[in-house]
Amino acid sequence: MEQVKTRWYKDAVVYQIYPRSFCDSDGDGIGDIRGIISKLDYLQALGITAVWLSPCYKSPNADNGYDISDYRDIMTEFGTLEDWKEMIAGMHSRGIRLIMDLVVNHTSDEHEWFKQSRSGKDNPYRDYYFWRKGRGPKGKRPPNNWTSRFGGSAWTYDETTQEWYLHLFNKKQPDLNWDNPKVRQEVADICRYWLDLGVDGFRCDVITYISKNILPDGTMPDGKFNIAICGDEHFTHGPHIHEYLHTLNKDVLSHYDSMTVGEAQGVTIAEGLDYTDEAREELDTVFQFEHMEIDSIGNLLPCRWKLPKLKSIFTRWQLGLYGKSWNSLYYENHDQPRALGRFTGDYGALHYEAAAMLAISTHFQQGTPYVYQGEEIGMTNYPFQSLDEMDDVLVKTIRSMPIFKMLPFHDRILLSVMRKRARDHARTLMQWSDEPNAGFTTAEKGWFVVNPNYTEINVDKALNDPNSLFYFYQKLIGLRRDKVIAPILRGGTYNLYYPKHKDLYVYTRSYRGELLLVVCNFKNKEVPFTVPNDIAFNEAELVISSYRDTLPLGNRTLRPYEAFVYKLK
Ligand code: NOJ
Repeated sequence: MEQVKTRWYKDAVVYQIYPRSFCDSDGDGIGDIRGIISKLDYLQALGITAVWLSPCYKSPNADNGYDISDYRDIMTEFGTLEDWKEMIAGMHSRGIRLIMDLVVNHTSDEHEWFKQSRSGKDNPYRDYYFWRKGRGPKGKRPPNNWTSRFGGSAWTYDETTQEWYLHLFNKKQPDLNWDNPKVRQEVADICRYWLDLGVDGFRCDVITYISKNILPDGTMPDGKFNIAICGDEHFTHGPHIHEYLHTLNKDVLSHYDSMTVGEAQGVTIAEGLDYTDEAREELDTVFQFEHMEIDSIGNLLPCRWKLPKLKSIFTRWQLGLYGKSWNSLYYENHDQPRALGRFTGDYGALHYEAAAMLAISTHFQQGTPYVYQGEEIGMTNYPFQSLDEMDDVLVKTIRSMPIFKMLPFHDRILLSVMRKRARDHARTLMQWSDEPNAGFTTAEKGWFVVNPNYTEINVDKALNDPNSLFYFYQKLIGLRRDKVIAPILRGGTYNLYYPKHKDLYVYTRSYRGELLLVVCNFKNKEVPFTVPNDIAFNEAELVISSYRDTLPLGNRTLRPYEAFVYKLK
């Protein structure tokens, strides 16, 4: 039976769970499925309508689950498939949809396909992956100069058959060869398997890499520094990517009321549309990364950023996708440092105001907002004092590289970079209460660090304070169900004011005679504000504000991090 696509994601607010760090139910120090089940009432109270669950499949955890050894079963530490079924039933009964992480650019080297593949050149699974002879007289140099996104060569030599295999990430994450029709069939079967079990969609990991123009050397882009870019032009948006995604959509996804969001680092608006233009039937949405890249050089070295640039990125995407496709709105996920501090500067005592301001700045744009676990209580970066405290495979890989060890002060430099940039900031244990280990586990220690500020910033405290950030988020998320506001959020046109203003982000959304005016002061200082002169504000109705006491709309000085939304006629 043909399913109708309702495009439910256009009214959804998605909450991302990184299961390892979310909630541990069995006292082994590792988050798990039953831990998630125990928090479903919490998620329902927050009001979110979908969960994106980072990988929970069987995995040896070289990259915390982004290295899958069995696509049809649950990671032993996380529980069983029966637990998972109970979890999804619990979500659905609360009106929460489930988006699973689909990691099919690569598998784990412990996946049965790879074990077979590496065992012999004639093995039927050999072409599931990319195997090549090495260069040089003895074949001891990698087949080409592509670099892994975690640093070093993208190729690893394997003694058994004396050939090299490709891995764009860690050597325990060999890349699948999508040019092999059997691989594409396997992926389609995996998707069907989970969709038949009731999942509502997929977040497609590094989906822009799945089609490779294999072998040619890559060129280092002129004058650009990037730890991991060599070869990019041969594996990003590769030759058959659109054909592969369209076929997957037609054969599988279109038969379910599902949604897809593709992780698409480096994607431009034109490329984004190629993936998500509804008429092309490939993906539904993508995560673009332009705004995630404004505070670093080459995605690594921290640098200063300016608000006009952030606004121009948001605005280009808002205008570029309007009427054709759909945006994903986010500041945080498991690969990014926390947004507080990063996009607000030093907020001092104004934790609530700064966090609420950031939320307002994105949630009123057109698109699906994503809230990363802990963002709703304002979790912050961890004060790392040493690289040894970090878990990320990226940090470990960089530290193991001989060339890195030759740099003077290498650890000190890397620590100062990672204190700002580490993915580990997002992976600290979820702060549930002021009990030991922030109430995440009853074990003596959790698998990872807990931010020392957990005694102040935690869910229990937030739930007991009617003025907390949690309740601000609850109100904000609830607006997506509001009969008056929701249609404006879904369909309204977007208009930016004061594009060059260094401190304020001001935009409107308008739909069928209704107007939302969104004003955000990004700075920890007072900033004068003038209502744009084409906006009449005599019938202004406050929708939400980052301050608990609100002053009337008008030309006045905004308080530090003051942000508000008014509905106007
Ligand atoms: C993107 C994921 O978000 C990240 O966590 C992972 O390390 C890489 N893809 C490799 O799967």
